[in-house]
Amino acid sequence: MSKIEIRNISMDYVEKNTRFTALQNVSLTIEKGEFVSLLGSSGCGKSTLLSILEGLRSPVEGEVYIDGERVTGPGKNRAVVFQNYSLFPWMTAKKNVVYGIEQTARTLSRQERQARAEKFLQKVELTDYQNKFPLQLSGGQQQRVAIARALAMDTEILLMDEPFGALDPRTRVSLQKLLLSLWRSEEGEKKTVVFVTHDVDEAIYLSDRIIVMQPNPGRIYREVHVPFPRPRDHDALIGTKEYQQFRSELVELFYHSDLAEEVVG
Ligand SMILES: Nc1ncnc2c1ncn2[C@@H]1O[C@H](COP(=O)(O)OP(=O)(O)O)[C@@H](O)[C@H]1O
Ligand SMILES: [Mg+2]
Repeated sequence: MSKIEIRNISMDYVEKNTRFTALQNVSLTIEKGEFVSLLGSSGCGKSTLLSILEGLRSPVEGEVYIDGERVTGPGKNRAVVFQNYSLFPWMTAKKNVVYGIEQTARTLSRQERQARAEKFLQKVELTDYQNKFPLQLSGGQQQRVAIARALAMDTEILLMDEPFGALDPRTRVSLQKLLLSLWRSEEGEKKTVVFVTHDVDEAIYLSDRIIVMQPNPGRIYREVHVPFPRPRDHDALIGTKEYQQFRSELVELFYHSDLAEEVVG
């Protein structure tokens, strides 16, 4: 059984009496432990699809199954990281992580929750900042807190919507490395990750498989397997001929996914 099965999803938004098709006939299966990226330009329905996986939105057609069970709302098996606004500004970094833990692990004692939050803040190297509020932290530090929170929740599935999109290139790469280093659960099992990005290099470095989407209406254009073995050394990898070759093919696909819209529309 696949970890996530998306069966023929369509999604409409109605605004000012006009209906807009954000997703049309999207089907996709994702295996346990797989790292899958949704790659596409803005407006092709990536965030909509992720919010359907999260259970925050219901598609007008089709269904999502997780471990064979139909998704009808948010669940404790999923943790989410967004680009922005995902931390509560009135809570310290540590309180934000504790809050996440409370959502999925209600059986832990107060002390155990605190200890778990500290442990994960340490993993993202924020021990010295745990009592700061989000506004006292840089963008990169805030996203490290968001990652610590998502990982501390110990869910089998991570849903990430352009989590590094607002960061400068160096911080971005360092958080990509951090994410891959923490991708496995404490039991050593790989989490299933669905990662939204419009950054080709980010998609390649992180993913097992890349789903290229196209807009108007949002749908899947192509899917490609990333051939590079893990663990991947970021700096060595991007210097190789194979990487450059794969990258330019992907850029071409990406470009055509957008062009297809212009031809049709
Ligand atoms: N709540 C909404 N109401 C109306 N239209 C929306 C809403 N959310 C998204 N859309 C539209 O649906 C399309 C897909 O949006 P989105 O899923 O955010 O795409 P992406 O994340 O790929 O940029 C866009 O054209 C967007 O304007
Ligand atoms: Mg989006």
